[in-house]
Amino acid sequence: MTAIKDSFFSDIKSVNSLNDLSGLKVKYLGKKGVLTSEMKSLSSLPADERPSYGKKINDLKTLIEAEIDRLESGLKNSEMKQQLLSESLDITLPGKYTPFGAEHPINRTLTEIVDIFVKMGFSIEEGPEVELDYYNFEALNFPKNHPARDMQDTFFVGDNTVLRTHTSPVQVRGMEKRRPPVRFIAPGKVYRCDADMTHTPLFHQVEGLMVDRHVTFSNLKGILVTFLHQMFGPETPVRFRPSFFPFTEPSAEVDIGCIFCKGAGCRVCKGSGWLEILGAGMVNPRVFEYVEYDTEEFAGFAFGMGVERIAMLKYSIDDIRLFFENDIRFLRQF
Ligand code: DAH
Repeated sequence: MTAIKDSFFSDIKSVNSLNDLSGLKVKYLGKKGVLTSEMKSLSSLPADERPSYGKKINDLKTLIEAEIDRLESGLKNSEMKQQLLSESLDITLPGKYTPFGAEHPINRTLTEIVDIFVKMGFSIEEGPEVELDYYNFEALNFPKNHPARDMQDTFFVGDNTVLRTHTSPVQVRGMEKRRPPVRFIAPGKVYRCDADMTHTPLFHQVEGLMVDRHVTFSNLKGILVTFLHQMFGPETPVRFRPSFFPFTEPSAEVDIGCIFCKGAGCRVCKGSGWLEILGAGMVNPRVFEYVEYDTEEFAGFAFGMGVERIAMLKYSIDDIRLFFENDIRFLRQF
């Protein structure tokens, strides 16, 4: 019996895992284990020795069981610790990089323009990109043989349908829907059959219209100077040059002092010191006739600008096509 006990205690010295321990359990307590066969051998002993020997075996069994339980809970504990340690998170490791998207420079410029006018009380009007000739040209007083109607500029969709070449048709649609006073801007996409460093077949414009009693050219100047000063800085010089558009009379082209050379003359302003930024004018009474506004009672001004052009100036971009190629190296810079 002592030999069994000694061999058990020597065996447990080499137990390092739960697996080792279950081997030990089988060896001593299993069906064919040392203690079980010891029990079986009881029958070969003289009857009077059996009780005391049986008790010894049971005592040893209890001892071995207790020892195995103790070892088992110890091993379980340390194996759990081991597992927790190996699974622990190292929060000092660098995280996985998720690239963020950013607003496209055209949308950003568009939002900036829209925000300035919304703060000045303009609402936002929308119109279709596939537009009737009537709204794109006729009601804007374009004569039948006007060069803008030419195949070279306009994408024709059907006999009387075009891809709008400007946002000005929204003036007419917006006025048809309501009576004066009217004060809205119309941002959106426009299309022209044209492509080079400064022209793409699709680009963006923001149109503006204000109609009320006693609206004058001074009001137009005030609104546009305020806008340009917010967009390009309060010190920016602004000038109005006489021009021509069929739907405004008188018409003007609006320039700002060149933001690159401060008026000295450079490559961007072609030596003139000025950059052309918008078209504008007083709404031609002929346009009012199309929407049946009383030209005696009401007057208005309109203006229109190209978003790409403004973004190119603001961000010093010399090729308009960069906006549409979606090269991530370009877009990342904004
Ligand atoms: N629609 C003109 C264009 O695309 C721009 C323009 C000029 C709009 C004068 C206006 C305006 O409202 O008054 O070239």
